[in-house]
Amino acid sequence: MNVLVTGYTGQLGYDVVREGKKRGISMIGIGREDLDITNEEEVYKYVQYVNPDVIIHCAAYTAVDKAEDEKESCWKVNVLGTKFIATAAKKVKAKLMYISTDYVFDGKGEEPFKEEDKPVPVGYYGLTKYEGEKIVRDLYEDYFIVRISWVFGTNGHNFIKTMIQLSETRNELNVVGDQCGSPTYTFDLARLLIDMIQTEKYGVYHASNEGFCTWAEFATEIFTQTNKAVTINSISTEEYPTRAVRPKNSRMSKQKLVENGFEPLPKWQDALKHYLNELAQEVK
Ligand SMILES: NC(=O)c1ccc[n+]([C@@H]2O[C@H](COP(=O)([O-])OP(=O)(O)OC[C@H]3O[C@@H](n4cnc5c(N)ncnc54)[C@H](OP(=O)(O)O)[C@@H]3O)[C@@H](O)[C@H]2O)c1
Repeated sequence: MNVLVTGYTGQLGYDVVREGKKRGISMIGIGREDLDITNEEEVYKYVQYVNPDVIIHCAAYTAVDKAEDEKESCWKVNVLGTKFIATAAKKVKAKLMYISTDYVFDGKGEEPFKEEDKPVPVGYYGLTKYEGEKIVRDLYEDYFIVRISWVFGTNGHNFIKTMIQLSETRNELNVVGDQCGSPTYTFDLARLLIDMIQTEKYGVYHASNEGFCTWAEFATEIFTQTNKAVTINSISTEEYPTRAVRPKNSRMSKQKLVENGFEPLPKWQDALKHYLNELAQEVK
């Protein structure tokens, strides 16, 4: 099996390639320097040349706040780029997996969003990711759309790294405590994605580590596990205004994973522990 992975220079793509290689699968990971997915002709040429059996499309414009001011750039990557990748995949008859986000939902209510709930994005980034989903559905009968949330991995920036960095100069931090969701460790997710592509169990899935928390709870656990004496003040979204509106309820139901016999990801606290170990190994 020949698998092409976009977004290799990002958090998720990197771990997906690593996991596939571990299992002896031929993995080709690419970043923007290898192929700019907004260049239609180049995308078709490149994909035809590689002729993959599967494309795992992880590349995206992911700067949620910046997207509100850089709408054109965000649209180009997340909508047009996805269209070109999906069209190219279809041309070579490759299976397609598109990575999407909890930010396609409006975050109303307290219940976890189900896979079949109607997306109503509240920010521009979420809107473009949902447009990407629609393109994949329109072009393909059989596809994987995997919505994930609050991603962390070794290859890139994330909330955990930010918290650890801030703790070097601060012993008290204000963190939002009224947005609730689930962190997703790319190491765990990569294993699931590689399992999935080896099946024909197509459809829309939600995937993240087990359990829910707020950002403030997440920060508290980070400092508990790293033995750092940092006080976390839980504040409201209104007290921490950001350029993009974020859904308050980012809980996602992962019913479909279980129904299709896929193993749920470990609890987010266990994932954090594993990740901190992984970071410590890197420093050595
Ligand atoms: N991060 C999160 O919290 C989060 C939450 C939910 C869903 N997601 C989704 O999960 C997926 C992976 O996220 P991530 O955190 O791993 O992303 P990331 O670390 O921000 O990496 C983004 C990747 O996309 C590539 N890319 C951007 N523009 C490109 C272009 N024009 N042509 C080719 N490649 C381009 C980047 O390449 P360069 O490095 O070369 O620019 C990089 O490899 C994305 O689809 C994202 O929407 C992320």
